[in-house]
Amino acid sequence: NAATAGGPSRRRRRRVLLFPLPYQGHINPMFQLAGLLHARGFAVTVFHARFNAPDPVRHPAYDFVPVPEGLPAAGPGTIVETLEHILALNGSLEAPFRERLAALLEPPGARDEVACLVADAHLLTLVDVARRLAVPGLVLRTGSAACFRNFVANPMLCDRGYLPVSAESQLDAPVKELPPYRVRDLMGADSRSSHGHDLMCKLLSRAVEAVRSSAGFILNTFDALEAADLATIRRDLAGVPVFDVGPLHKLSPASSSSLLQQDLSCLDWLDAQAPASVLYISFGSLASMSGEDLAEAAWGVADSGQPFLWALRPGLARGAALPDGFAAATGDRGLVVGWAPQEEVLAHRAVGGFWTHGGWNSALEGACGGVPMLCRPCFGDQMGNARHVEHVWRAGIALDGGGVLERGAVEAAVRRLMRGEEGEGMRGRARELRSRAAAAVADGGSSRLSVDKLVNHILSL
Ligand code: UDX
Repeated sequence: NAATAGGPSRRRRRRVLLFPLPYQGHINPMFQLAGLLHARGFAVTVFHARFNAPDPVRHPAYDFVPVPEGLPAAGPGTIVETLEHILALNGSLEAPFRERLAALLEPPGARDEVACLVADAHLLTLVDVARRLAVPGLVLRTGSAACFRNFVANPMLCDRGYLPVSAESQLDAPVKELPPYRVRDLMGADSRSSHGHDLMCKLLSRAVEAVRSSAGFILNTFDALEAADLATIRRDLAGVPVFDVGPLHKLSPASSSSLLQQDLSCLDWLDAQAPASVLYISFGSLASMSGEDLAEAAWGVADSGQPFLWALRPGLARGAALPDGFAAATGDRGLVVGWAPQEEVLAHRAVGGFWTHGGWNSALEGACGGVPMLCRPCFGDQMGNARHVEHVWRAGIALDGGGVLERGAVEAAVRRLMRGEEGEGMRGRARELRSRAAAAVADGGSSRLSVDKLVNHILSL
């Protein structure tokens, strides 16, 4: 109860205000954080854009404040469109957010009740607005600590000529200042046009600025996974308290923040499969692939002979469907659903491998499930995540994101991952990650202690 947690002088229940970036991969961790803070006695108000708005009915304990952004409803597509959309959101949310926050603070006692705002790292303008209204702003970054180091290093990477990428031949060069990254793994390596490069630089520098001027920085990661990166961030951000509270989905009740309906029937299907036999395939909420890549992926999986569960999001392949003959060729060896309960799927004993685009939530959920991963990154932080899965965690294989997929390469990668000694080694290291994640969120674990510190910090603001 917040009254006791805050000490005898604090009689009121304190309220945290949250503002997620309206994409699935950012909404989930923010709602997991909401669940965590609510369980520790805070009242929760979620401010949100109209785009990808959460459903208040599914979160009866929270208050919701819609903030109209006045942008066209169409979601982002390419990396450049995504960057443009995020920057446009910052501009268009600023004034209506200021108005709604000021209104929320107006009633007598309301200002004292509000402890802080926690905004996504890409909503810099909102942290500023809150500060000007005397509300302390904390920042949640939903990606890895390693990726945030990449954000901080971006100006140096540009000065030293790593970025923008001007020739294919540059892509495999190691970035010696930021191991284990190669140039192709950097944020922005995929936005080659000068417009794309400028947008990426703007987005990264604004996120770093938001964090530096914040009252606290929250990361969905844990010490045993990214100790060195966390130590560097703490040094770089001297003065800003850093809270590594991940994996959030293990600390907070199962997420009900899915924007798409999860098909739960696949769990029954998994129940009937042999232990560690199924390859789970999902490319997250934003990544897309060509119809040609989809067909090659499908035939590679079919030819591998491996049982599979495929969460094939509507629109993943821009309207293209699985190739004719695929269903007949795979029969009851495979199940295709539109959207899966991913956390439960990855924790299921029948799942023995995960083909992912390498989004940070997926990478963490895969690690917590103890499953080795085949990573086919598309854009943004996914290349760096795939690099970590393969080279640092040594719990998976990266399928180079550059070229067109080829069914023979897919088949060989699935076999390496799911069968034989090499796959067993990767599975063993994935299980080790699962144990470390479990230790981090257990009583006395590093993330639990970080949550305690975060709660005390918020109450002290
Ligand atoms: C995006 C970026 O791509 C990612 O790299 C970044 O770190 C966060 O924002 P997204 O592409 O959607 O996110 O990937 P990811 O981070 O993996 O998040 C997807 C979320 O959707 C996960 O929490 C996953 O559990 C959930 N999901 C995915 C489902 O619930 N069902 C599915 O079928 C697939």
